Amino acid sequence: MIEVRRIHRRDLNKVWEFLKISFRAVNQETVEYQRPRSKKRFMEVYEEEGIEQLLFEADGELVAYAECAYEVVGGDDTWINPRYFERRDMRPLFVEELAVHPDWHGRGVGGFLMEQLHHLAKVRGLTHLVLEVAENNENALSWYRKRGFRKLDAAIFMACAIDAEPELLPPRALPGARDGDDDDAKGKRKAKAAVKGTVKLKPKA
Ligand SMILES: CC(C)(COP(=O)(O)OP(=O)(O)OC[C@H]1O[C@@H](n2cnc3c(N)ncnc32)[C@H](O)[C@@H]1OP(=O)(O)O)[C@@H](O)C(=O)NCCC(=O)NCCS
Repeated sequence: MIEVRRIHRRDLNKVWEFLKISFRAVNQETVEYQRPRSKKRFMEVYEEEGIEQLLFEADGELVAYAECAYEVVGGDDTWINPRYFERRDMRPLFVEELAVHPDWHGRGVGGFLMEQLHHLAKVRGLTHLVLEVAENNENALSWYRKRGFRKLDAAIFMACAIDAEPELLPPRALPGARDGDDDDAKGKRKAKAAVKGTVKLKPKA
């Protein structure tokens, strides 16, 4: 039996630990962190208005987590342009986080979670679920596609290799012979040898 409930303050540490486990494998393969970015940010989300944080439990064990927002979150810092949706008569539920514990993958937990998000959107009169996923998070990407998600318009991370040279020069052979030394260098070397007692200097007049 799987149950869904809203988060309490006392759940915060437990959910943070859950998120680290659930995103560990994914975060190792993607340019952008697939969240969570930091514990501090995660704690702040709890205090923010208009964000739903849902816990899915089986026999009291946390097996999945979903976070969604009714408005674009992040203020001036956000990557989302709300007018994109307004112009298209879309009223989205923004799905900020979605994760199933790795031990529970493939057992229908994600399916139930997705149904819950559809239900939330519907009862709030919203028209779409909108989320961001890394293109190389292939497991999640094909999972979303199979559930009716289609690409909107999003940045693709591109890279091109620079034809670069090392900043530091390679090793260089120094001239070995002393024949070409100038008089000054010769004199200094002579004086040094005299201190060691190997060369006699002329007495000063
Ligand atoms: C994507 C994710 C939410 C799917 O959750 P889930 O509980 O495994 O999904 P379900 O059990 O409801 O769906 C099972 C489907 O996933 C496939 N699947 C994915 N991972 C699987 C696994 N490890 N074992 C078995 N089946 C798996 C099944 O083949 C099945 O395919 P279907 O599309 O034919 O039904 C989950 O893999 C996950 O949390 N991934 C890590 C976090 C992540 O990437 N989140 C999205 C970031 S935007």
